[in-house]
Amino acid sequence: MFLLSILIMALLIIVILSFMLGFSHPLPWIVIGVLVTIGIIHDQLLKKKQLVWQDSMATGIELIDHDHQRLIILINMFQEATEFNISERKVQLALDEVIRYTKYHFNREEQLMALNNYPGFKEHQLQHQQMIDEIDIYMKEYRCDPDVALEHILQFLQFWLMNHIKGNDRQYIPYLTITKLDDDAEPHKPRIDDAKPL
Ligand SMILES: [Fe+2]
Repeated sequence: MFLLSILIMALLIIVILSFMLGFSHPLPWIVIGVLVTIGIIHDQLLKKKQLVWQDSMATGIELIDHDHQRLIILINMFQEATEFNISERKVQLALDEVIRYTKYHFNREEQLMALNNYPGFKEHQLQHQQMIDEIDIYMKEYRCDPDVALEHILQFLQFWLMNHIKGNDRQYIPYLTITKLDDDAEPHKPRIDDAKPL
């Protein structure tokens, strides 16, 4: 990403300088074309690395499917924030939001499992806790070496979430006959767009 930023900056400088040759000169327009092509290719590559919701991932439980879809969106937003790295604060807010919503979702899922006396509840709850503990370890790494840790956190979140949704979360489906919670209003969350650059 760093090299790409340097390349884009260099091309922008070439565009500005080459306009001195006159607007009818082909050079600036060729370089602009290269810049647009780079943007399109980068966008395509970015999308290829993002998580995609598939119908086969649906549990059929509205509350759970909503949370899983929301988590995929939030992880993709975190990925974009790290990829473009516009500001440290935006990356931090995107990560905070993923972690906050993950904990919120785990809590809702666990409430539903407990409410339905799901026999695998304790084991499933332990997996959630292990995931939170692992995130805590990555967050310590993040404070020491943010660049390396961000890549690790992203890979872990993507891998863990997809595996969990496609694996463990399918096991409780037959047991969850009560699928609504009395109080499932989402608590206040900070808006990523409100973040001010450092
Ligand atoms: Fe789960």
